[in-house]
Amino acid sequence: MQLKNDLILRAARGEKTERTPVWLMRQAGRILPEYRAVRNRLSGFIELAQTPELAAEVTIQPVDILDVDAAIIFSDILVIPEAMGLPYEMVEKRGPFFPKVVNTLDDLKKIKIADPKTDLGYVLEAIRITKKELNGRVPLIGFAGAPWTIFSYMVEGSGSKTFSRAKKMLYTAPEFSHRLLQMITDSTIVYLKAQIEAGADMVQIFDSWAGILSPQHYATFALPYIDQICKAIEEVPVTVFAKGAYFARKAMGELDCQTIGLDWNMDVQESRQLIGANKTLQGNLDPCALYGSFKDVEKATKEMLNQFGPHRHIANLGHGVYPDIDPEKVKCFINTIKEHGF
Ligand code: CP3
Repeated sequence: MQLKNDLILRAARGEKTERTPVWLMRQAGRILPEYRAVRNRLSGFIELAQTPELAAEVTIQPVDILDVDAAIIFSDILVIPEAMGLPYEMVEKRGPFFPKVVNTLDDLKKIKIADPKTDLGYVLEAIRITKKELNGRVPLIGFAGAPWTIFSYMVEGSGSKTFSRAKKMLYTAPEFSHRLLQMITDSTIVYLKAQIEAGADMVQIFDSWAGILSPQHYATFALPYIDQICKAIEEVPVTVFAKGAYFARKAMGELDCQTIGLDWNMDVQESRQLIGANKTLQGNLDPCALYGSFKDVEKATKEMLNQFGPHRHIANLGHGVYPDIDPEKVKCFINTIKEHGF
């Protein structure tokens, strides 16, 4: 199927674009009343994610309502631990919770490499339906968590300010850590390939907890596994977003991926210098900038665009959009980008 708008794919490959493409991390759900209306018909997030027709519907909502240049499939990074044998719950206002975790080499015998066709068929079906309903309007982004971030949840069992139990494993049980990271990596590669086969036009790897590791641990326990994933995915452009990993930008320039996501702490010119000219950069407005007035949002957005310049940039926030942001401010961000002139 020929895409009517392939700006984001061309930008990722380093080709010239008429203007900068834009989408938002966490654009599906969260800020849209139309999302909450669909979600309230069900028991919660997990049931919605596991109902392909409705997951497709909320995936397309931001394309209809916000007019973004890409859709991202409605799912979660935590479907991988579940497919490996650790189911999760979403506790209202508190976030994810895993009744079972892994902490020892023995525990690893109770989990397995994910089989996307049997364990994650609902995501693949949601992708197929979304692609059909999008009918080529914009590309569809598939995604997965990076091995270190998924490891954190599988060891810790929930979110955490410090993830100190997960980090403790890197110091005290390196063999366990590498074995689990490899199992997650193997699961993620087959999962992303299955998403691409089902129709995903590009994929993003979210390393949300990258910034809590030391540079040495990031080089030992995170980057080599991301590198394996990048090398294995040759079919479509790959984006790596490692939040807080400012210390790893030079090394990320060496990854076999097309796009590097920047958070709002990372200076744009400095990042370009460290990462090099051969990658597209994605980001990086502070999500809180959208709390400002319409005039402020417009000004901050233009400043961001001018910092990145006209080539190899995909506009986005520096992390996911916050749930209490006014969708009209998001529209202001998007429209300013579309009208900027590049
Ligand atoms: O980007 C999108 O809009 C597509 C869907 C998507 C979700 N989660 C849906 C979701 C994506 C790409 C994610 C990624 C994700 N999930 C990350 C990486 C990105 C990041 O923000 O750093 C992480 C760390 C998670 C784990 C997770 N899922 C947490 C901590 C929570 C609870 C708090 C929160 O973010 O809302 C979730 C729940 C979740 N995932 C919701 C949605 C729409 C909210 C559930 C609800 O509707 O109540």
